[in-house]
Amino acid sequence: MPRATEPRSSPDIPILGPVGHARVLARVLLSPVIKGPIVRRPRVVGLAERIDLDSAGVAEMQRLRSRYGPGPVQLRIPGRRIALLLDPEDVHRVLNEGPEPFSQATLEKRGALNHFEPGSSLVSSAQQRLSRRPFNEQVLETDRPVHSHAEQMTAIITEEVEALLGHADFTGTLDWDGFAVMWGRMVRRIVLGDGAREDDQVTDDLRRLRERGNLSYLMPQNRRLRERFLGRLQEYVDRAESGSLAAMVAQTPAPADAKPVQQMPQWLFAFDAEAWATFRALALLVSHPGAAEQVRSEMTVPPGASAAEAAGSSACGPRDQPLLRAAVLESLRLWPTTPLILRDSTAGTRWRNGTLPAGAGLVIFAPFFHRDGQTLPEAHRFSPALWSGDRDDSDWPLVPFSGGPGMCPGRNVVLLTASRVLGELLGQREIAAAEPLDTRRLPGTLSPFHLRFAVRRG
Ligand code: HEM
Repeated sequence: MPRATEPRSSPDIPILGPVGHARVLARVLLSPVIKGPIVRRPRVVGLAERIDLDSAGVAEMQRLRSRYGPGPVQLRIPGRRIALLLDPEDVHRVLNEGPEPFSQATLEKRGALNHFEPGSSLVSSAQQRLSRRPFNEQVLETDRPVHSHAEQMTAIITEEVEALLGHADFTGTLDWDGFAVMWGRMVRRIVLGDGAREDDQVTDDLRRLRERGNLSYLMPQNRRLRERFLGRLQEYVDRAESGSLAAMVAQTPAPADAKPVQQMPQWLFAFDAEAWATFRALALLVSHPGAAEQVRSEMTVPPGASAAEAAGSSACGPRDQPLLRAAVLESLRLWPTTPLILRDSTAGTRWRNGTLPAGAGLVIFAPFFHRDGQTLPEAHRFSPALWSGDRDDSDWPLVPFSGGPGMCPGRNVVLLTASRVLGELLGQREIAAAEPLDTRRLPGTLSPFHLRFAVRRG
């Protein structure tokens, strides 16, 4: 459908009044900002859980839709216009039509991510994306459900989960602190190589840079620290340990403008989101009647399975159970780790209720689309069946990994590694949540940092 640049005389899309502005800022946009967009602040996430901040955001969006119909609506804050999307059709349109006229490299993302990855595809111009996005897709093997390093990844996961469970056997408990230590080692080994297992420095450097990213333009860039961090990544690429993504970076041909090493911080950073999603998925699976048992029974290797299947290294291996992948997707639907999907308009655009000029921000508040009880009957229930079969633009938007040409190129690596961590945990031990969730009525916010599980040998 052609949507030409708008003649100047067309009206703007509706602008919220002062009270509307205050409500949206306080109830929708504040939550992701104060929780820490780049590094989460566990205490604030805990507070958000106690006051169920994200449910308030969804309720506010529903109120806007009942008042303004399918929208979009506009906010004007000093120096910035922001369009808030209220309708599924608009979500699909904005995600599909990138990087022009809807650019992924928004003002807010550049402010935050330039602290540690100024060459990342996510903050690149349309021209730069032409080489950087395909480079990411090649190394992460975006189109393959099972990455060619799956066997090495699985071996790493088995070893690291075993070490974690050894510790949990001693204390009888699995908590976030232990899980996060295991996760950090696993990620460094998968991305940088086995030699990086104990390299806490590289993670700490990235954390310090990300903390600056939380404050975006308010914080000057620490170029020396960034150089040291990127230099360390380059060393791992030079070392190119077999089975690591760093080795694939070294071996994948790319033009210099692709800035291969500068794509890597996004991978290390994004694995954090996977850790939260995996820990929450564990809470879902052990709280939902029969789910953990189903996982365990399906993990039994069928008689006559090949060695590769037994090791879970084929696309249909026993560790790739659909229920585990769907549980991770459900965790991401219920508690999206990228709650605000942002775009900037590079040209004037026309909408059903008016126009938006170039240079405006567009916001997709994912919890609204994922948890809208008025349109999605499963909104607050654990519903793995939502993910059986392919989804397309005729479906209600469930967009934990975004969509269109900006969709997360790491999603299959995420689903592979997260489901294998869950498979190892549930296959090795009896695990029970210290505070089980009611999977028929799930909270709007769930902090992964306070989840605790009792662990015992089966
Ligand atoms: C639960 C885990 C993850 C979630 C929910 C997630 C989600 C997302 C989302 C929503 C975006 C798009 C942001 C936007 O549209 O502006 C994105 C981009 C990206 N993700 Fe992920 N991600 C995850 C983990 C990963 C991992 C582990 C990797 C790499 C190993 C990765 C690599 C990337 C890259 C390179 C981009 C930028 C793509 C581009 O520039 O077009 N992600 N991710």
